[in-house]
Amino acid sequence: MGNGIATGSTDIAALGARAMAMLDTLGAISDAPDNLTRLYLSPAHRRAAHQVRDWMEAAGCEAHIDAAGNVVGRYGPAEGPVLYCGSHIDTVIDAGRFDGSLGVVAAILAVEALAGEGRVLPFAIEILAFGDEENVRFPTSLSSTQAIAGGYDPRWLDVVDGDGVSLAQALREFGGDPDAVTGLARDPAQALGYLELHIEQGPVLERADLPVGVVTAIAAAWRADCVLRGQAGHAGTVPMGLRRDALSGAAEMIAAIEGIGAQHEGGVATVGRIAAVPGAVNVIPGEVRFSIDARAPGDAMLATMLAEIDAACKSIAERRGLAFTQAPFMRAPATPMAEPLQQAFAAAAHAIAGDAPLIPSGAGHDAVAMARLCPVGMLFVRCAGGISHNPAESITQADAGCAVAVLIEAIRRIAADQAAARG
Ligand code: GLV
Ligand code: MN
Ligand code: MN
Repeated sequence: MGNGIATGSTDIAALGARAMAMLDTLGAISDAPDNLTRLYLSPAHRRAAHQVRDWMEAAGCEAHIDAAGNVVGRYGPAEGPVLYCGSHIDTVIDAGRFDGSLGVVAAILAVEALAGEGRVLPFAIEILAFGDEENVRFPTSLSSTQAIAGGYDPRWLDVVDGDGVSLAQALREFGGDPDAVTGLARDPAQALGYLELHIEQGPVLERADLPVGVVTAIAAAWRADCVLRGQAGHAGTVPMGLRRDALSGAAEMIAAIEGIGAQHEGGVATVGRIAAVPGAVNVIPGEVRFSIDARAPGDAMLATMLAEIDAACKSIAERRGLAFTQAPFMRAPATPMAEPLQQAFAAAAHAIAGDAPLIPSGAGHDAVAMARLCPVGMLFVRCAGGISHNPAESITQADAGCAVAVLIEAIRRIAADQAAARG
């Protein structure tokens, strides 16, 4: 390569061992006593953020936890062009250790390796450990990532969690600053790109017997909270034909939603959360709240699915005499990965891992929000059985080492291209 930026040697086995040790440390930081649950702005999120900040500093970064709860580590000059790299450290409930955390650990190890080579890069690297990717605690849409990307919706500060705590209040308790969140937005003119390494969360790489793949695009996604109201009544006295049972209505809707997901090639639709009120064995349920998560490879297909879901739910509610409302709280367009970043990952992967297939992502990622700021690129890592959002999530140490080495090599190649472009 030209401009003095050459492909360096990388100890892949050592990188894998370091990555797994760091992931073990992070995986032990949980709000739950017997599983990994680390929701946005929780005590465990704060402990994990402090750990990540310490690692960033040890790797050679200036690091801090920002007003939105993101951990930010900057390597290189404080001004000028920046290459962003990272993922998230919040988790789902009863999570695996790798979703999100792998991308943060990989970015730290990459910076440590590049710093150790004494390399002067033609840009700064900012490592970002986002806090609100899973959107499990609050009905937001990648809020802390959008703070960096410039798409923060100030109304998010007023939304509340299941205990009635507002996001603004949770931010203050965490040590953040609701008034400063919108000021975190980065300058697009200085943002060269965002790289994210993530477990695949699907079976393609395992079937192909390959450690890494290059992401082509992220599916369009939509989420809503629904309320279905009927009439509570005595389970022993109200004849079946005279009931307005909200839970039976919801059961019918769930089956319809599942069917709509299945009818669209590449589409998926899930009801993952449901609660019935009053929730007693001898009371006809008067009210049900449930969530909908629908995704599709393209925006047009998702729009069709949502229209079908809306029509199906309304017709079921009308037939059963139920009142149905849905409050959408998240909509993300299909997000293509930037060609040059796909090429950097592909070339690096071919140099280090041999073949690397091109894979679309059905899961959402911080890259969706970061695409508002700059070109984005993602690398997937093989995970056992394609299992994710599950404590059984697993990757091998060898694959972790290989993936981090590919990330380092991709950054070297982007640096070479940047240096060449500037003559
Ligand atoms: C994030 O993990 C998602 O739900 O896609
Ligand atoms: Mn993730
Ligand atoms: Mn996830």
